[in-house]
Amino acid sequence: MTARPVSLTGIKPTGTPHLGNLFGAILPAIRLTERYRGIYFIADYHSLTTERDGAALRHSVHEVAATWMAMGLDHENHVFFRQSDVPEVCELSWVLSCFTSMGLLTRAHAYKDAVANGKDPNHGLFAYPVLMAADILLYDSEVVPVGKDQKQHVEMCREIAQRVNHHYGEGTLVLPEPLIDENVATIPGLDGRKMSKSYDNAIEIFTAPKPLRKRFMKIVTGSETMEEPKDPANCRIFDLYKLVATAAEVADLAGCYRAGNFGYGEAKQRLFEAYERFIAPRREVYDDLMANPAKIEAALERGAATARATARRTMERLRERCGLGSGG
Ligand code: ADP
Ligand code: TRP
Repeated sequence: MTARPVSLTGIKPTGTPHLGNLFGAILPAIRLTERYRGIYFIADYHSLTTERDGAALRHSVHEVAATWMAMGLDHENHVFFRQSDVPEVCELSWVLSCFTSMGLLTRAHAYKDAVANGKDPNHGLFAYPVLMAADILLYDSEVVPVGKDQKQHVEMCREIAQRVNHHYGEGTLVLPEPLIDENVATIPGLDGRKMSKSYDNAIEIFTAPKPLRKRFMKIVTGSETMEEPKDPANCRIFDLYKLVATAAEVADLAGCYRAGNFGYGEAKQRLFEAYERFIAPRREVYDDLMANPAKIEAALERGAATARATARRTMERLRERCGLGSGG
């Protein structure tokens, strides 16, 4: 029997996760464990390019870890860890940087955007794709599921790995393939634009029931009167409802929309109830983890121990071929 391929998912901790992250990234990534041996890590070194508050970064790592654990990531049978617990990635990053041309990095989107916006990017942002390549190559990853915005980084990773293999022999590093899921929907926020932390239109996943209900009530709707029929295909409440309600409930709400004499307030209440039913048991797990961060740390440390073993093997192979260390 051939082993399932290794897929690697990097999660940048950037504040409290919202429904866009949940339905657009977290749940699709968790489903990959059906087909791949999954490696999932929280990319705290990457967040350091912008985050300057140490306590906030560590808190954000805990929130993200607790979210993935509460949403059902099988961290006992797959590898789940924090990037900075395996500092070998920084050593690999250095070696890779010696095979990366400045020209390649000046073509990276994030760097180009920063310069175009008149910013003076730090070296960490400039070298971001090299560290990301190190994340991927350190664990012999075969598949890297990414959104379109990260595809360029995986292509750069392949280019860098090819150069290393050219010098030290095929098989020194494993070339990864990007995996782009075209079917992932864009989740709308309260104002109808893409839900995003930067637009202040997000609903955080584990908001407590009372403020959660208030948040759902803020969704912007059409201006039809209560009596007028409404179009389910053109309504943000309906878009969100489809993610959490049963097929029968969705059909029923569509019927109410088309019939008229049905207000958006009632639709929002149904959405709140369906989401609450979906999230309540998971929120309990999440709240327990956040109240007991030692449980989160224990899971991350177990994952790091497994990840470190693979990382050391890759680095031994590379150091031997590069002429680093005694070679003994
Ligand atoms: P934000 O826009 O809130 O800063 P991030 O850029 O940190 O979100 O996104 C992290 C992950 O969640 C990415 O994989 C991204 O594609 C996904 N994601 C974020 N917002 C949405 C959304 N509204 N719909 C679908 N996926 C989303
Ligand atoms: N750069 C990714 C992001 O901004 C996070 C990330 C870091 C990553 N290292 C990775 C993703 C390795 C995939 C593979 O979202």
